[in-house]
Amino acid sequence: MKEKPGGIAAVTIIYYSFSAQTASLVKAMAHGLETGGIRVEKIRLVPRQILRFPLRSILRTFRMMLTTFLRRRITIAAPKEMRQNPDLIILAGPTWSYNPSGPVLYFLDRYGRQYLGGMAVLPLISCRGYWRLHAAGLKRMLRRCAAEPLTPLVFTHPNPEPWRTIGVFLKIAGRTPEKSPLLKRHYSRFGHSHEQIIRAEEYGRVLARSLAAGTEIKAACGELAALVKVERDRFHQNSPPKGQTTG
Ligand SMILES: Cc1cc2nc3c(=O)[nH]c(=O)nc-3n(C[C@H](O)[C@H](O)[C@H](O)COP(=O)(O)O)c2cc1C
Repeated sequence: MKEKPGGIAAVTIIYYSFSAQTASLVKAMAHGLETGGIRVEKIRLVPRQILRFPLRSILRTFRMMLTTFLRRRITIAAPKEMRQNPDLIILAGPTWSYNPSGPVLYFLDRYGRQYLGGMAVLPLISCRGYWRLHAAGLKRMLRRCAAEPLTPLVFTHPNPEPWRTIGVFLKIAGRTPEKSPLLKRHYSRFGHSHEQIIRAEEYGRVLARSLAAGTEIKAACGELAALVKVERDRFHQNSPPKGQTTG
């Protein structure tokens, strides 16, 4: 860990969130890090175009699924400058059609080297359940930015399939599957559970403790990613989705 004034480690979290799921995880994790004594700075990526959740249209939702599958970039405003010289950057955002989201892709193309070059970068992924292609593509892009990609922290929605996919699609389109007489038995809530958000705060504290104990950044993040995976797998064992769980 780099020596900081006062010996305090610093983490910068750069994130994009469309439907507030990543934002909730980031807020919780940042709080956990801060209570563990880490200096945290958050930088939100803001698209230039208005991109409002929900889209309120089935057609617009299909169109978004297609354009994001083609990895269309979404232009963002210049991110605010980093005020600190972090030991670690967490790059957080949702999976969009098996890829990083459009604003994150744009950030990596346009600002990746400037913000991430030479840094250890811990990806944090929020998704309904299909994240592997996203993680692999992100790893390649981070390497191209001269960053060191660490094992990602992956958070999936705790609903079984096929309800998870149907529910997410309908929520993006502006419907309320959790209130539908047909769906509410299978789909009670969109996004991450309250328990996952609480765990995210604890993950922040766990990381802070490892760093305070002098564990090297890569090892500390690796241990944390393993813990997040064990807890994700435990959930899926308890509630096996009918479809694929990782994508
Ligand atoms: C256009 C679009 C495409 C998506 N594609 C995927 C996908 O391929 N795999 C997946 O697991 N989730 C997918 N999702 C679901 C989001 O990753 C998930 O809802 C995530 O928690 C949203 O995070 P956010 O609220 O921070 O944007 C998609 C969502 C959108 C809007």
